[in-house]
Amino acid sequence: MDASKGRSRSSHGLSRRAFIQGVIAAGAAVSSVNYLFRGNALGQGAGRGVAERLLTLTVNGQQRRVDVLDQETLLMTLRYKLGLTGTKIGCDRGECGNCTVLIDDVPVYACSTLTRIVHDAPITTIEGLAAPGGRLHPVQQAFVEELGPQCGFCTPGQIISAVGLLKVNRKPTRAEIAEALAGNVCRCGAYDHYLNAVQRATELI
Ligand code: FES
Ligand code: FES
Repeated sequence: MDASKGRSRSSHGLSRRAFIQGVIAAGAAVSSVNYLFRGNALGQGAGRGVAERLLTLTVNGQQRRVDVLDQETLLMTLRYKLGLTGTKIGCDRGECGNCTVLIDDVPVYACSTLTRIVHDAPITTIEGLAAPGGRLHPVQQAFVEELGPQCGFCTPGQIISAVGLLKVNRKPTRAEIAEALAGNVCRCGAYDHYLNAVQRATELI
């Protein structure tokens, strides 16, 4: 593959992500309020003082102090309290994998995880994978080079699942990759691209 094309796709992908993140963040405050308080304005924990609800989370290597309701999912905390909108909401019911993050290096669905239960474990989102200087994680780079995404909505979850796999199995077979990504649904059907990308990532790590 032509290296200059790879760089151009990479930078294009990053600026596109930044654009999407900005657009989504602009509407996040309204939708988070709707979600958190829909039909349960005085849900468990809502009546307690803010000081009692404060938790310190370790997200992408940083300590983040955040006010968390007892029934609040990690997905809501990440997106609407911490602004980490790279973690996507698909089904919001544990079926699509769009919300996958790493907790203690294990892929989990953030929509099905209560923040209070995992608050003392390290959490990694898609925003935490690139190196501080912006160099993409090898899995991200491989996804770019294999043109993995189509619409890209499922891509953060697919990448996080792949990173989780490669932490415990550096040379997975294609069947093992498919099994690891089985919990990540792609409405565009880009599965072969994703499998190719993870195989390519094993050569970059
Ligand atoms: S949004 Fe979490 S599994 Fe679909
Ligand atoms: S690339 Fe569109 S949903 Fe997967």
